[in-house]
Amino acid sequence: MKKVLVATEKPFAKEAVDSIKEIAEKAGYNLILLEKYTEKSQLIQAVADVDAMIIRSDIADKDVINAGKNLKIIVRAGAGYDNIDLAAASANNVVAMNTPGQNSNAVAELAIGMMIYMARGCFNGKSGTELRGKKLGIHAYGNVGKYVAEIAKGFGMEIFAFDPFVSREAIEKDGIIALETVEELYSKCNYVSLHIPANEHTKKSINYDLLSKMPEFAVLVNTARKEVINEEDLLRIMDEKQKFYYLSDIEPGLKDAFLEKFSGRIYFTPKKMGAQTEEANVNAGIAAINQIIGFMENGDNTFQVNK
Ligand code: 3PG
Repeated sequence: MKKVLVATEKPFAKEAVDSIKEIAEKAGYNLILLEKYTEKSQLIQAVADVDAMIIRSDIADKDVINAGKNLKIIVRAGAGYDNIDLAAASANNVVAMNTPGQNSNAVAELAIGMMIYMARGCFNGKSGTELRGKKLGIHAYGNVGKYVAEIAKGFGMEIFAFDPFVSREAIEKDGIIALETVEELYSKCNYVSLHIPANEHTKKSINYDLLSKMPEFAVLVNTARKEVINEEDLLRIMDEKQKFYYLSDIEPGLKDAFLEKFSGRIYFTPKKMGAQTEEANVNAGIAAINQIIGFMENGDNTFQVNK
């Protein structure tokens, strides 16, 4: 019987695991669960004899991929696949896939939730501010960016987007103002919500030049990746601008420096939790197991990212 490993250091909701198991078993696959593991060696051991693997932000590096002697496919149940060594996957004839869109609404709701939390002074009972009428910049108009825009419309925000990979028409048909340059986005908007992937072009790209263009009252919301931020530059801006706020779903590398200097102007979720909803877990988990079965049985490689 073929084996599928679900390796999640941060587990899916039970409902998602139950659904994945049911679909796998119906299709004749044996499901193996490795949750809350603490050592890479546990993952290396677990992957050794499986045919397929489902992961979240779990690191599938060269060692892990090389250890999977029968491994044919890895599905990242989520959007970003910067945690998979794609070159190692290709070198081992392992197909890598993601499940785009499946957890996007959850991430978008968290981004908006963090904005409200900070606008209302972390619910401290004192007078805060409102989102209505504020300018929101969506940096990258993909699945999450679209949901953020849709929700923000309901809050009466004025919404702009910059994405060099999405046509002006596609952005404007959603009633969002498309901007030509990233500099314009940061210059115009009080709130900027980041939705860019972490890759060689974007790492540390949110830097002093860009951040210094933001208005006096500015809120940077990061539900993307910490690697896209130049943290030294962000610390410098927050030193210079007393009304600059940073909200992130991913704790910064320089967390202590932020906590020491800017308490009240920063908020970090205790764990990366944008995609931590039952619905997102079920959607992404079911998509992942179906993609594995589709590939193993029919060679369907629709969501392959290492083509
Ligand atoms: C993603 O890329 O899909 C999100 O960052 C969610 O990651 P997670 O599955 O590790 O919560």
